[in-house]
Amino acid sequence: MTNNIQNSSQTQTNQSWGGRFSEPTDEFVKIFGASVFFDKILAPYDIQGSIAHATMLQEVGLLTKDEKNQIIEGLGQILNEIKTGTFEWSVTLEDVHMNIESRLTQLIGNAGKKLHTGRSRNDQVATDIRLYLRDQVDIIADEIKRLQLALLDLSEKEASTILPGFTHLQAAQPISFGHHMMAYFEMLTRDAERLSDCRKRINTLPLGSAALAGTTYPINRERTAELLDFERICSNSLDAVSDRDFAIEFLSAASLIMMHLSRFSEELILWSSAQFNFIELPDSFCTGSSIMPQKKNPDVPELVRGKTGRVYGNLTSLLTIMKGQPLAYNKDNQEDKEPLFDSVDTLKACLRVFADMMPTIEVKRDNMYNSTKMGYTTATDLADYLVKKGLPFRDAHEVVGQSVSYGIEHQKDLSELSLEELQVFDDRIENDVFDILSLEGSLCARDHLGATSPNQVKKAIKIARKNLK
Ligand code: ARG
Repeated sequence: MTNNIQNSSQTQTNQSWGGRFSEPTDEFVKIFGASVFFDKILAPYDIQGSIAHATMLQEVGLLTKDEKNQIIEGLGQILNEIKTGTFEWSVTLEDVHMNIESRLTQLIGNAGKKLHTGRSRNDQVATDIRLYLRDQVDIIADEIKRLQLALLDLSEKEASTILPGFTHLQAAQPISFGHHMMAYFEMLTRDAERLSDCRKRINTLPLGSAALAGTTYPINRERTAELLDFERICSNSLDAVSDRDFAIEFLSAASLIMMHLSRFSEELILWSSAQFNFIELPDSFCTGSSIMPQKKNPDVPELVRGKTGRVYGNLTSLLTIMKGQPLAYNKDNQEDKEPLFDSVDTLKACLRVFADMMPTIEVKRDNMYNSTKMGYTTATDLADYLVKKGLPFRDAHEVVGQSVSYGIEHQKDLSELSLEELQVFDDRIENDVFDILSLEGSLCARDHLGATSPNQVKKAIKIARKNLK
């Protein structure tokens, strides 16, 4: 079997539910129905949940102290076996839950058989996924923060670096490179907020809902929630075992993060091309071509952009898995895991590689500056200048349009035209126009909250640093 998973007991039915069956499970159906291949990564959470459940069962008198201690000790040994790779996973036992329970009974006998009192795999698996996802959300939040810190450092260094800001991928107005980087910082701030909001709903306890209707035992769900550090308890057993909306919420938050990383990747790819030549990615984050010796390909951002597709796909998978299911649990739900795990792993990897790459990017300030000079990016500034001298904006727009056309014809930027040349278009233009036609002048003039002047960018960075702590 792959992944060290045994398929030993060929003719046996599953011991946990085989009682009413007279024929063994079809060999292929056994493999088809098993989830142990992928759900074994839930093992530490399954054990954590079982320890809390056993503790609660003992407190309400359903287990003796001795039985509870045996269970906790046995589960500890199992966790150790799993971590050291000596645990024998069996496909006949279907999933992580039954593999662990079966081994527990093997180790401690009768007490092991009592662990499942008052619970079902339905509330167990819902609990495991929530514990897993809560942990993963915290790891992802830390990675976002690491990337944000890298962006703050870069923005601080490049607050006065000028590059063309684009609309329609046409040079529009001069902007600060720090301002550009801070745009991504803002996106990531909202991404982190979305995750932390979704964490609240993940952090709700399904255990105690049993198969679908609750249990006849006098369980104490508040106590289980406290032991597992859940903020709330699911208040409807049918809902608790069946819905996976918390995972879908996570997958949508993950998709938005990937969308942002993908846009960022697209820019890094463009900027590192010979045509833009705005940045240089380090060799350690690029690869060469086996045929074209001159090539240095931006693999890392390309892969991040590409992997965005699978994260979107996983969101669509889970939405589709859920849409036709009647209440309550259905085996369809077993299909929730692979898309979820894949998105978690993909997202963690992409954030990690981005956070590592950011401090290594070389910013080619001169190239950015020269490119900004080429695109008539201060045309709006000239129009604003004329408005301040009394011309209505629409007329100013027309005048500047004519001077740009003249500039193109004579291959000169607006700042390179003489006062006499400019005055042909409007005699209100005076010598002070050259301050506002310079890139620096244009940049510094946009000096209000949220705008691109280096002064404002530095203020924004300061506030962002404080908020990030
Ligand atoms: N492996 C199952 C899953 O992932 C666990 C729950 C099984 N419950 C059941 N009634 N068959 O969903």
